[in-house]
Amino acid sequence: MPDTSQLISKQQTFRTALLKWYRKNARSLPWRDQPSLYKTVVSEFMLQQTQVKTVLPYFARWMDTLPDFATLAAAPESQVLKIWEGLGYYSRARRLHALAHAIVAFPQPPQTVDDWLALPGIGPYTAAAITSISFRVPAAVVDGNVVRILARLTADETEYRDGSTAAKAYTGLADALINRKKPGDHNQAMMELGATVCARRNPLCSACPVQKLCVADQQETPEVYPRLVTKKIEKVTVDRAWCEQRGRVILHRTSGDAKRLAHLHELPTFEQIGLAPADAKTLTLIAKKRRSITRYRITEMIYQVASSRIPKSDELIWVPRDEIESLTLSGPHRRWVRELLVKQLKT
Ligand code: ADE
Repeated sequence: MPDTSQLISKQQTFRTALLKWYRKNARSLPWRDQPSLYKTVVSEFMLQQTQVKTVLPYFARWMDTLPDFATLAAAPESQVLKIWEGLGYYSRARRLHALAHAIVAFPQPPQTVDDWLALPGIGPYTAAAITSISFRVPAAVVDGNVVRILARLTADETEYRDGSTAAKAYTGLADALINRKKPGDHNQAMMELGATVCARRNPLCSACPVQKLCVADQQETPEVYPRLVTKKIEKVTVDRAWCEQRGRVILHRTSGDAKRLAHLHELPTFEQIGLAPADAKTLTLIAKKRRSITRYRITEMIYQVASSRIPKSDELIWVPRDEIESLTLSGPHRRWVRELLVKQLKT
């Protein structure tokens, strides 16, 4: 547990300095200028696990096509996923869609943290962000950025098992510090401070509005906090098939109830077409791609596979080359398919 007494005794100084800094330094962002509940909700979903600069073009496109809860609720899932394509973590798009269905069923959107928590796809962070920004509810957001700020301010030596354990441990302190008159600005100021000043590496302590209150800065060791048990990096290899026949490419379409990638199209894995890992020895490797997802370092091996080896299945689709662009593919698969199509033309 962090030692919070010193910081809590200076809570008013903390709030005032933070808000003053935010007013001067807040980035102008489309969900902040002329805010609305809908813009707040969409931006909070997009900003989960994704940086502001990545979100900006997606947010603009989304607002052009799906400008309010009613339009979103009425849109087919395929359209929603298509607009989300490339942003990753697709379950967010499906949860946001489900949320719009729930919201339009109310005469008015709910306004309390508990009512929001009861809606699909809403966790403590999103509930606090939405209700504080849109309804001035004094509920503090606590994510990795906020944990980092508070762990440094208190030089907390506790070693947390993971980010969500740390977030739970800091909820009390974060709630105690919140500015009750301006909870939305306070929360956004914390997000902004974490994203731009109190960075994980090379924090800009001399630009920090609460530097004087920060024990880690006094110890000149901000980067060691928060102390988290380091997760072991795991290496994984995935074998995939590339098969093109008479202008059609085989893709695997995830089923509607799949947890992560519903209705997304990907190059099929060996398992999805009934090949064993040992079959790789008899096939030609045509591409090797590396990527990282959380703590996994994934090597994707793409092999040329004859069409006779592709079984019939509702989830395996022969897609004409000129229709691929209109389907939803995750960012890396879209790049690989484009690259392999060009390669095929050349050979
Ligand atoms: N990250 C999560 N919510 C955010 C917001 N409203 N502004 C900037 N970054 C954020």
